[in-house]
Amino acid sequence: HQLIVVQNDFRGKKILITAGGTKEAIDPVRYIGNRSSGKMGYALASAAAARGATVTLISGPTNLKAACGIKVEYVEAASDMRAAVLAHYNESDIVIKAAAVADYRPQSTAEHKIKKTGDTLQLVLERNPDILLELGQLKKQQMLIGFAAETQQLVLHAQEKLAKKNLDMIIANDVSVPGVGFNADHNIAKVLYRDGRIEELSKMSKEHMANIILDKILAECRK
Ligand code: CTP
Ligand code: CA
Repeated sequence: HQLIVVQNDFRGKKILITAGGTKEAIDPVRYIGNRSSGKMGYALASAAAARGATVTLISGPTNLKAACGIKVEYVEAASDMRAAVLAHYNESDIVIKAAAVADYRPQSTAEHKIKKTGDTLQLVLERNPDILLELGQLKKQQMLIGFAAETQQLVLHAQEKLAKKNLDMIIANDVSVPGVGFNADHNIAKVLYRDGRIEELSKMSKEHMANIILDKILAECRK
């Protein structure tokens, strides 16, 4: 006989997860985007739902399909993601921001398709709202987990984000390593906590990493 263990360790917990990259419209047919696949966020959503959590997934455009039982809201631009996240924030126990949010958007979106006239084209970009920073400022009971994508000084930059955004935990990954992280099936990361602890997560599938991250979140909740 095979023993099937059903984990229900997240039963009763409401988890809000963001995933994927945002798209910022330049004109009706063009946008500014990034290489995020959404895999890490979707893996976290599936794992949390399988462990009994009530999951709301706010997803940028991806090629992925959410597991059944997960409530998904699809968004495009960072400003839409912000509105969707804020609408669910108060009721959430745990918030995991795995999305790759565009830092800038075109200052204006052209009403019509931009024609190729000049030899060069200049786009003026303006800052997007930092959703996670806002969540940190509004934080009450929520446990707040961020991601940090870095190509240099991983720990230093991740520590700065953890403090500035008032997070409980940040998962930092080096996006310059080929074959892992951004748009890949595997990930390598460091987990940083408010008290200065740093834990290493060796190369593993995003599905496996999702469950390890959830284990760590639960351990922090129980403190
Ligand atoms: N984030 C967000 N809203 C933004 C930008 C980022 O909520 N406008 C969140 C991301 O979802 C992630 C965390 O903030 O969980 C860190 O994102 P990252 O791009 O690594 O850091 P930034 O604060 O944007 O700083 P920079 O890109 O300059 O390193
Ligand atoms: Ca950024």
